[in-house]
Amino acid sequence: KRVVVFISGGGSNMMALVAAAKAQDFPAEIVGVISDKPDAGGLAKAAAEGIATYAFARKDYASKEAHEEAIFAALDALSPDILCLAGYMRLLSGTFIQRYEGKMINIHPSLLPLFPGLHTHQRAIDAGMRIAGCTVHFVTEGMDEGPVIGQAAVPVLSDDTADTLAARVLTVEHQIYPQALKLFAEGKVRMEGGKVVRTADA
Ligand code: GRF
Repeated sequence: KRVVVFISGGGSNMMALVAAAKAQDFPAEIVGVISDKPDAGGLAKAAAEGIATYAFARKDYASKEAHEEAIFAALDALSPDILCLAGYMRLLSGTFIQRYEGKMINIHPSLLPLFPGLHTHQRAIDAGMRIAGCTVHFVTEGMDEGPVIGQAAVPVLSDDTADTLAARVLTVEHQIYPQALKLFAEGKVRMEGGKVVRTADA
């Protein structure tokens, strides 16, 4: 399966996918990395891996639609089977989501449906949670509410700050995202009727 990864920052999740895809039996190949930030640190990391990179700065386009049209043109040339959002900090239009629904997944740093949106770690601490974690899900119209493919939990420690908790969650993000992509690429999970359909071992 051909995979394009979307990033806006350092791309540590993208690099975890790149590393996993190096395994001979991994059922997906990362064929491109797209960012809305030309200075995203992850672009240099992807380029160093020999992966095609594309940057589309929103300010270079007159509208959200024009910005997405440029991205669609790059995607048409790459003809991906799967899109992976990985720290991509831009809301996609309904047009974009409809175009790729069922083929696009995202990683979110909370145990959805708890804490959709931003500042998830501080909100978990403020809520007195004793566990936190991350979720890989299909991307649907509502933000951070698509059907779930994988999750992992970590403890919230008494002296945690948002940063210490974020670091602990990021470690397991890097484990579950490649696992989720593998299951999806192998066809062991898929989205049907707005729900995840999965085999017994997925
Ligand atoms: C991660 O916490 C991820 O869950 C969120 O963006 C953060 C940074 O990701 N979506 P990365 O290091 O750029 O992959």
